Amino acid sequence: MIPYGRQTISEDDIEAVASALRSNLITQGPVVEVFEHRFAERVGAKYAVAVNNATSALQLAMRVAGIGQGHRVVTSPITFLSSANAAVYVGAIPDFSDIDATSYTLSPAALVNNWKPDTRAVVAVDYAGQACDLPEISRVARARGAVVISDACHAVGGGFHAAGDGDRTWCLGGNPWADITVFSFHPVKTMTTGEGGMLVTDRKDLADLARSLRSHGMVRDAARFETPDDDPVLGEKGPWFYEMQSLGWNFRMTEFQAALGLSQLSRLDSFLARRREIVATYNAAFSDLEWFRVPRLRHLADGDTTSWHLYTAQVDFPMLGRTRTQVMAELALAGVGAHVLYIPVHLQPWYRKNYGYRPGMCPVAEEFYRRALTLPLYPMMSEVDVAQVISAVRALAPAVTNAVAAAA
Ligand SMILES: Cc1ncc(COP(=O)(O)O)c(C=O)c1O
Repeated sequence: MIPYGRQTISEDDIEAVASALRSNLITQGPVVEVFEHRFAERVGAKYAVAVNNATSALQLAMRVAGIGQGHRVVTSPITFLSSANAAVYVGAIPDFSDIDATSYTLSPAALVNNWKPDTRAVVAVDYAGQACDLPEISRVARARGAVVISDACHAVGGGFHAAGDGDRTWCLGGNPWADITVFSFHPVKTMTTGEGGMLVTDRKDLADLARSLRSHGMVRDAARFETPDDDPVLGEKGPWFYEMQSLGWNFRMTEFQAALGLSQLSRLDSFLARRREIVATYNAAFSDLEWFRVPRLRHLADGDTTSWHLYTAQVDFPMLGRTRTQVMAELALAGVGAHVLYIPVHLQPWYRKNYGYRPGMCPVAEEFYRRALTLPLYPMMSEVDVAQVISAVRALAPAVTNAVAAAA
C-alpha cells in the first residue's frame, strides 16, 4: 500500500544517528546546538530552540508569549489537535475562526468578524504547507493587542511572497509578522527527527525563556542568578549550581535526533523540489476531472514557495455516487492509502463538551472537511507510485458515467 506520507531516510542519516549514539552524551548537547544554529540560518530567524515535538513547542510558545488564564487563543479548525490544545495547556480558552475557501488557511476577514475582546494570540496554521496570509493576519492581531504564533508544522522550509511589504519572498520563521514560529519534525513532515520540533523567534528574551522552560525552568548562567551571595545556605555558587526560576518541563531533544535533523536539513531543498514535482504531476493529471478539485495556491502568480506537506483534494462524493468510505476502500484495493486531514477540531467531542462548540460555527471549514481527501505525497514516491495513484483516482471516474447512465 502506498501510504499518504512517510519519511525519507538515507544511509547518511543512519550514519549520522549512529555516530551520535557512539558519543558520550546522547541527550541534549552540542549537536542540538549546531542543529539550532543551522536551522535558524535556513529559515532566516535569529534564535531557534529545539524540543521533543511541536506540541511542546506550541505549549512553550504560549508560555513565553504570556498567554494564560482568562485569555483566548484563536486558531483554524483545519489543523491537528495540538494547535488548539496548546492554549488549553496554559489555562487559556481555545477559539476557532473560519478558513479561506481557496487556501484552507485562516481567513483574515473571518478573524475580524469573530474577534473577541480577550483574544491575546492567533495561531496561524499553514495547512498542507501553504503559508497563510501572515501579513494580513498579523495586522488584524497586532492592531488588537494579540501576538502571532505561526504554526508552520506543515511548512518546514516554506516561504511566502508579500506584495507591498518589501515585495519579496519571506521564509516561514524569519519574517516580521510572526512573533514566534513553530515547526514539526514528525516523520510525515517535510523533514524529520523521528519526533521533534523547533521554536524560532527574533526576540532574545523569548528564546532565553523558552530554553529555560524546556528544561524545568532551570538557569545555569551565573549572570542571571537571583540568589544573593549572602544567602545563608545557597550563597556559594560553584560549577554545580543552577536555579529553578520558573516552572518548566522536560521538552529536550536528544543528540541523535538532532544528528538526524542536521542530516535531513542538508537535503530539505531536494525533498521540497520532489514534493513540488509530484504535486505538479497530480494537478496536470486531475485537472479535467469535474468531481475533483486540486489544491489551489493563493500566491500562484508570485512564484511557488509552498513546501507541500499534504496533497488534499476536494472531491464531490455525491457526484461519484459513493461515500468517502467507499471511495477510500476502492483506492485501498488499488494499493493507494488515502487519508482525511483534518476533522475540524471544534467538532471533536472534547471541544463540544467543554466549550459548547457546534456544527455551523465554521461553515467553510466544515464544507472543506466533507469533501477532503488526502492522497499520497512524499519524496520517496517513485514515478510508478505516482502513476499508480493517478490511475486509481481516475479509475473512480467510470462510476460517474455509470451513475449518469443509470439515472437517464
Ligand atoms: C499543524 C500542526 N500543528 C502541530 C502539530 C504537532 O506536531 P508534533 O506531532 O510534532 O507534536 C502537528 C502535527 O501533526 C500539526 O500538523
